[in-house]
Amino acid sequence: MNTFIPNKLYSFLNTDNSSGETVNQLFPGQKVVANLEKGRGDNLSIGIIGAGNFAAFAANVFITIIGIKIIAVADVNEMAGNKLAEELKATYHLDYMDLLADNSIDLVYIATPPHLHFEMSKNALLAGKHVICEKPAALKTLDVITLQALAKEFQLLYVVNLMQRYNPLYTMVQKIIQQKMMGNFLHGFFENYASDENLQEQHWFWDETKSGGIFIEHGVHFFDMFSGWLGHGKVINAVEQKRKSCDTTIYDRVQATVLYEAGTVNFYHGFDQPKILDRQEMRLLFERGEITLYEWVPVSMKLHGLFTNEQLQALQDLIGPCTIVKHPAETSGKKVMGRFTEIIFDEQVTIQCGSNSEKQHRYQQLLKDMLQDQWNWIKDRSHQRIINDTNAVESVRMAEAAHAIGCSFNLKGETPL
Ligand SMILES: NC(=O)c1ccc[n+]([C@@H]2O[C@H](COP(=O)([O-])OP(=O)(O)OC[C@H]3O[C@@H](n4cnc5c(N)ncnc54)[C@H](O)[C@@H]3O)[C@@H](O)[C@H]2O)c1
Repeated sequence: MNTFIPNKLYSFLNTDNSSGETVNQLFPGQKVVANLEKGRGDNLSIGIIGAGNFAAFAANVFITIIGIKIIAVADVNEMAGNKLAEELKATYHLDYMDLLADNSIDLVYIATPPHLHFEMSKNALLAGKHVICEKPAALKTLDVITLQALAKEFQLLYVVNLMQRYNPLYTMVQKIIQQKMMGNFLHGFFENYASDENLQEQHWFWDETKSGGIFIEHGVHFFDMFSGWLGHGKVINAVEQKRKSCDTTIYDRVQATVLYEAGTVNFYHGFDQPKILDRQEMRLLFERGEITLYEWVPVSMKLHGLFTNEQLQALQDLIGPCTIVKHPAETSGKKVMGRFTEIIFDEQVTIQCGSNSEKQHRYQQLLKDMLQDQWNWIKDRSHQRIINDTNAVESVRMAEAAHAIGCSFNLKGETPL
C-alpha cells in the first residue's frame, strides 16, 4: 500500500512542478497509466462499493440507462453485498480492493459512509477507474483537492453525486436569477426540517468522525445549489446544537449564514422530525417578489410577485404548465416603491407548478441524468457537464467552514446559553 502525502501532492499539482516529480513518483510502486479508452464504448461497466440503502436505490436507476452494466458489488456486510449483487446479477466482493483489481470495470460508484470516501476514491483513481462518489466527497477539503488533482493527472472522471443541479426547477431558478426576471436577488432561506425516524442512536450519521456532521454529510447538497445560483459564498456565521435528551453526543440542528455577492442566505438543517412532519422549503427573495421551492429534492415551486405583462409571459414561457392566480392590485397606476426605486407592474400574481407526487420520479430522473451527463464526458471530453470535480471541492469547502465555526461556538460540547 502506498504512503499518501496530500500536502506534497497538493503543492505538486498547484505549482509549476519545477521539481519534476510525477504522481507516480509520489505513489512509489503504483503504476497508473491514463487509459483514455476506458468507458468510451457503447457500454459502461460499473462496480459499486457499499451496498446500503442508497446504493440499492441508485443502482436500480443506473441500469435503466442503455449501455450501463453493474458487474460487481463490494460491501463488508456480506448479507447486504450479496443481496444487491444477486439482484443485479453482479459479482460480490467482501474487500473492495478486489473489485478495484477487476480490469473490466470502467467506473466505480462509491456509496459507503462519508469517512471512507477519500480513501476509496483515491484507491479507485489509483486503480485507473473513473469515480462517482456519493456526497460528501470527503471530510476535509484538502482531501477533495487531492482527489481532484489525481483525477486530472490520470485523465479520469471524478465527480460527487450532487445531483440537485440536474433538477429542472434548479435550472429555472438559475435563469430567473441570471436574467433578473424578478429583479435583483436580496435574501435566501433554506429550511430543512428532516426526519430522524430511520436514524437510530448508533447510526453512523450521528458520529462526526464518520459523517463529518450535518453540514458536511447533508449540507453540501444545498451549499452547492446556492453556489450555482449565487456564485462563491463565504460562511460568516454558524451554530450546531446538541440534543440534550440522549446520552450519545448528537448534534441534530445546525444553522449557517452565508454571504454571497448578491446577499445572504440562511441555511437551517434539523434532523429531529417524525417522517410524517418532514418538510423542506427554500425561499429566494427578489425586488419584485419571491420564489419558494418545496421538498429537499424540489418538486414544486411557487412564485409570488409584481410583474408587467411581458415579464409574466416570459415567466410562463420558462416555467411551462402552471396555475396563475391574479390578485386584485390595491395601488393606483400600478406603481410602487422599493429600495428608493419605482416598480411598475401590471399584475400581482401567484404562479404555482409541480406536485409532491413527483418526488420519487424526480429523484430517479436526477440520478439518471447525472450518470448520463458524466458518461457523455467520459466519451467526449469537450462535453460541458452540469457538475464536475469543482462542485465536490467547493461544497466541502463551505461545509467544512460552517462546521468549524459551529464547533467553535460550542464550548466543550455545550451550547453556551
Ligand atoms: N445523493 C443523495 O441524495 C444521497 C441520499 C442518501 C445517501 N447518500 C449518501 O450515500 C452514502 C451511503 O448512505 P446510505 O444511506 O446508503 O448508508 P448505509 O449505511 O445504508 O450504507 C452504507 C454501506 O456501506 C457499507 N460499508 C461500510 N464500510 C465498508 C467498507 N469498508 N467496504 C465496503 N462497504 C462498506 C456498509 O456495510 C453499508 O452497506 C452516504 O455518503 C450518504 O451521504 C446520498
